[in-house]
Amino acid sequence: MSNAFIEQPERSVPLIPVTEETLEDVLASRPERWRNWSRERGFTAKPDRFLCIPSADGHTEAVLIAYDPGQVLWMLASAARRLEAGAYHLETGGLDEALWLPATVGWGLGGYRYERYRKAERVLPRLVWPPGVDRARVVALVSAHELVRDLINTPAMDLMPEDLAQTVAAIASEFDAAVEIREGASIALDYPCVHAVGDASAHAPQVIELTWGEAAHAHLVLVGKGVCFDSGGLNLKPGNSMRLMKKDMGGAAIALGLAQAIMALKLPLRLTLLLGAVENAVGSRAFRPGDVLTARNGKTVEIDNTDAEGRLVLADLLVRAGELKPDLVIDFATLTGAARVAVGTEISAFFSTDPAISEALKEPGTRWDDPVWGLPLHQPYRHLLKSDLADIVNSSSGGYAGAITAALFLQEFVPEEVSWLHFDVMAWNTRTRPGRPKGGEAMGLRTLLDFLEARYRP
Ligand code: BES
Ligand code: ZN
Ligand code: ZN
Repeated sequence: MSNAFIEQPERSVPLIPVTEETLEDVLASRPERWRNWSRERGFTAKPDRFLCIPSADGHTEAVLIAYDPGQVLWMLASAARRLEAGAYHLETGGLDEALWLPATVGWGLGGYRYERYRKAERVLPRLVWPPGVDRARVVALVSAHELVRDLINTPAMDLMPEDLAQTVAAIASEFDAAVEIREGASIALDYPCVHAVGDASAHAPQVIELTWGEAAHAHLVLVGKGVCFDSGGLNLKPGNSMRLMKKDMGGAAIALGLAQAIMALKLPLRLTLLLGAVENAVGSRAFRPGDVLTARNGKTVEIDNTDAEGRLVLADLLVRAGELKPDLVIDFATLTGAARVAVGTEISAFFSTDPAISEALKEPGTRWDDPVWGLPLHQPYRHLLKSDLADIVNSSSGGYAGAITAALFLQEFVPEEVSWLHFDVMAWNTRTRPGRPKGGEAMGLRTLLDFLEARYRP
């Protein structure tokens, strides 16, 4: 990120946006050499392709950037990754000014690489800051994605609960936020479910609470599922289902990334970030199927399946969130495989107690190509969570509507008067697309940041 953008140097290569429709027109006013080169290369301006045009003495004179006019965000994303090193500037002439910002964000996202264990050899190109673009917003968005992607991509052995806590502490100090980290036996009374889920691990469970902003502002609470590795616990996952479970802290990563962006952009709100960081491990201290836990609000939970651990972690945190009398609570979690069956890996499923909020997410979701889709908190399914001996079971039998029953479980821990939004996300790109390499992904973050800006800084 620090290297993705530069101030205007003496020379830079223009990036010229073209579409399948405008290609001819754009080339008509340029040297004949360009037209010939484009034609000989068979360049048709298919989105995400680009064409470098050499000058007579063999330098790159210009780059034609083909893009989809319906999705400007990714316009520069492939180029940011694949152009030769050097300075480039966006030729903004033919492009509506409102599109410069998303195009710049896409350049930043396109340059992402995960380099903790293998440094990339290729030097990436740099983009001259387009005039007048809100740099703070670009940096906030791109940095948040980098943070989230890096955290998710990091193997569990190097990102255990204490590491997640230290990451939050470092970000808190950067933004003058207060942070309280509680771990191990000390959370047994206040966060009994978090404690039970994390107790089998050699890495103590942690509850991380960050607070920022003026108390007089509307209070937003962000909650995240930080399961640093989900083995399934005693209900052990089969190997192929476990393979990606380093990403099961994706919800916590996204909540943290969003919090960082909110603080960086100084949104006028009171912010609390609440993360439950645990490893769902197997061992003699593991919680068991048939155990009954008592959550922070006194509700008793019969454990039907130790692999439905995320909702247990979130239960205690949502109770805490409700105690803060917030304006809005948003939780993020890689909660169910069922949500992926319902909407696939590239759409984030959400649930909300406020229909106006559900509606308000649609437009930014489309504009930022960060698709979200609402699923119902269908109360008649609540019976699927009945327990023979406790207030609720943590997993429904039957296997239908798993994302909905998980959300209904969570709702038991959210006070009725609280406005609540729950995101069940994949947090992982299963394939590489422009600006979105395979690996950890900040799903829902762009949509939510836009929504929060509109809600709190209209
Ligand atoms: N972390 C998983 C959910 C998950 C799996 C998210 C794959 C994304 C991709 C969660 O803890 C889990 O194991 N859920 C179970 C719940 C079941 C036991 C009721 C699931 O979805 O199978
Ligand atoms: Zn699980
Ligand atoms: Zn999980």
